[in-house]
Amino acid sequence: MTNSLPSENHKNKVKSSLGDVFCDLKTHLEVADIIQNHKSNRQDIREIALAELNLSKVKSIIDLGCGFGFFTRGLVGKVKKNTKIIGVDRHVKCKQFYLDSCKHAELKGQFISGGIGEIKSIKENSIDLVICSYALYFFPEYLEDIARILKSDGTFVAITHSYPHMVEFTTYVKTILHGAGFYSGNNLPYEELIKGFSNVNGVELLSKWFGTIKSEKITSSLVFNYDDYHCFEKYFRFKKSFFIPPNITNEDVQCEVILESLKNDMKLQSKIEISKKDIIFICQKPT
Ligand SMILES: C[S@@+](CC[C@H](N)C(=O)[O-])C[C@H]1O[C@@H](n2cnc3c(N)ncnc32)[C@H](O)[C@@H]1O
Repeated sequence: MTNSLPSENHKNKVKSSLGDVFCDLKTHLEVADIIQNHKSNRQDIREIALAELNLSKVKSIIDLGCGFGFFTRGLVGKVKKNTKIIGVDRHVKCKQFYLDSCKHAELKGQFISGGIGEIKSIKENSIDLVICSYALYFFPEYLEDIARILKSDGTFVAITHSYPHMVEFTTYVKTILHGAGFYSGNNLPYEELIKGFSNVNGVELLSKWFGTIKSEKITSSLVFNYDDYHCFEKYFRFKKSFFIPPNITNEDVQCEVILESLKNDMKLQSKIEISKKDIIFICQKPT
């Protein structure tokens, strides 16, 4: 058993390999639909995040870690048609999916691949609205640049997970892996990842770069009935590296052990419910 703290190098490796999961855009889109269809809280988190903002004068927007454009899609009808928006992601495969989302949102889209480092080439004080959903924990060290590119009256909206996230399910996975002799006692990879930026350290990290920070917690859960096991299976297979500690034994072997156990338990209990806690940060007055 090891319980030592992971090094920076190790953390970066974990981040990079977890980020790789999202280059399968087709499955990412399918899994995003599964999440939307199985969440207990039917409110749209993007609607809540944007509800109190006056976006009528917004002329320039950036979506960081945009993926296929989940947050960008949520801007439909919220900003003027043909407003310029740039999506930034590290996977070039996002490009067409992202540009389709811009079309859906009636925005004039551009896509920059090459990752968050590309933000360095964006002019300071030039962007009205920066949005980022479920990605800031990959690059919290770029908050300074986010504040730098934002206009003095601009807004940064981040949607992220709260920590701990999916508590009961995380314990369940650890118990199964422990029983099979595969659990080292460390955090699961996704726990390590979201600790980089969450409700716990969010205000502290943001307050270095923003004068005003508002936050709102959103609680939901994912509910899968036994008949929907195939949906849960698709979700879990896509996200398996988030839950399975690397370097113990083959990831696929561990994945099958977890899925088999879960399928049996779902059959007995007729459903599983996975709590899901998110938080929205609205940041203004970049310093
Ligand atoms: C959980 S997905 C969220 C995607 C999208 N924002 C959404 O809400 O569906 C995380 C995204 O962050 C991207 N990402 C991870 N590391 C990144 C980096 N260093 N630079 C830019 N994008 C990154 C991934 O490629 C992925 O598309």
